[in-house]
Amino acid sequence: MVSSAIRELLKVTEQEGMISFAGGLPSPDCFPAGAIAEATEKVLATSAGKALQYGPTPGLMPLRELCAELLIGRGVRVGGDQVLITSGSQQALDVIGKLMIDPGDTVLVEEPTYLGALQAWRPYRPNCVTLPMDDDGLVVEALAERLANGLHAKFLYVVPNFQNPTGVSMSAARREALLDVAAQYGLPILEDDPYGELRYTGSTIPPLAALDIARHSQLRHVVYLSTFSKLLAPGLRVGWVTGPAWMLKRIEQVKEGLDLHTGTLSQAIAYEACRDGLLDRHIPVIRAVYGERRQVMLDALAASMPTGVRWTQPEGGMFLWCTLPDDVSSAEVFDRAIAQHVAFVPGTPFYANGGGDNTMRLNFSHSTPDQLRTGVARLAAAIA
Ligand SMILES: Cc1ncc(COP(=O)(O)O)c(C=O)c1O
Repeated sequence: MVSSAIRELLKVTEQEGMISFAGGLPSPDCFPAGAIAEATEKVLATSAGKALQYGPTPGLMPLRELCAELLIGRGVRVGGDQVLITSGSQQALDVIGKLMIDPGDTVLVEEPTYLGALQAWRPYRPNCVTLPMDDDGLVVEALAERLANGLHAKFLYVVPNFQNPTGVSMSAARREALLDVAAQYGLPILEDDPYGELRYTGSTIPPLAALDIARHSQLRHVVYLSTFSKLLAPGLRVGWVTGPAWMLKRIEQVKEGLDLHTGTLSQAIAYEACRDGLLDRHIPVIRAVYGERRQVMLDALAASMPTGVRWTQPEGGMFLWCTLPDDVSSAEVFDRAIAQHVAFVPGTPFYANGGGDNTMRLNFSHSTPDQLRTGVARLAAAIA
């Protein structure tokens, strides 16, 4: 095991005066602290006996039902009994790795991919095979070609909406094509969707899980993860997973051995806070704040980046991805940027098998518009 490059890096970014595009943090301005305080008080006043007690491994049923409603809103028609609460999506990634990966097994990932998934799986010693992406997300033709040539993989991991790290979304046509490939080769897909609700422009694309259910009337090829981290607060550590029934049963067994269950107090607070439609009121607030910040960062990049620097145009989420000219190392730019008091994450750790030396991830959700403008100007100077 190695420590996460990002965690090491975040230590530098805590220096006084630093503008950081490095973290993956939601803005604290967007935490519904009042609603969470009220919910906490109510939970402790009315159901402390339950909320402070051990609970069932799959989670508290009212919360599972609430998650099922959220899923139905995304086109994923499941019931509460098909939802399992996890301690953040991160735990689901670990559980699925523990369940699925024997040493040397092939796991297919996008290039680049979410660093936290690579970190969760590294102890299980997978052979990660990377697949290319373009502006429409995973290049499904490349996947089909590898499988047609005999590659056997345990599963494919994808973040189709506003991917961390690139901000890129998989097009609707690619999603359909991916499900065709999954059906042809019996390839399980792990769909990770923490950001799908955070769309600021363009129109919603159904998750793979919704398309899978539309085809088979149940989840057959897709295991779907989501979380309250970006909608309420990551400190609650409440996420959820749905998938084929046999898979959920196994996930439950592994989770029981890990932590018995996700904190009942956190689950009860999440439920109490959301039961009266808080998310319907709160998500538009987050969209307005992050949507403005995204635009400020895009405008600032367009105004100041030297020629030869390219970046993605995410329609939602929290990140965008910059590609420097081939011969420019983002690690070297990082040192210069830190000297100018601006931080970002160099792209290499998001590459399962190395590479991406000229890439970087920029977060736009955590900085204020003024910080975004100043930070991008500093970054442009460091690159120049
Ligand atoms: C793609 C992706 N998956 C999972 C996670 C983990 O989220 P959680 O806070 O629910 O554990 C993150 C967090 O940034 C993420 O970006």
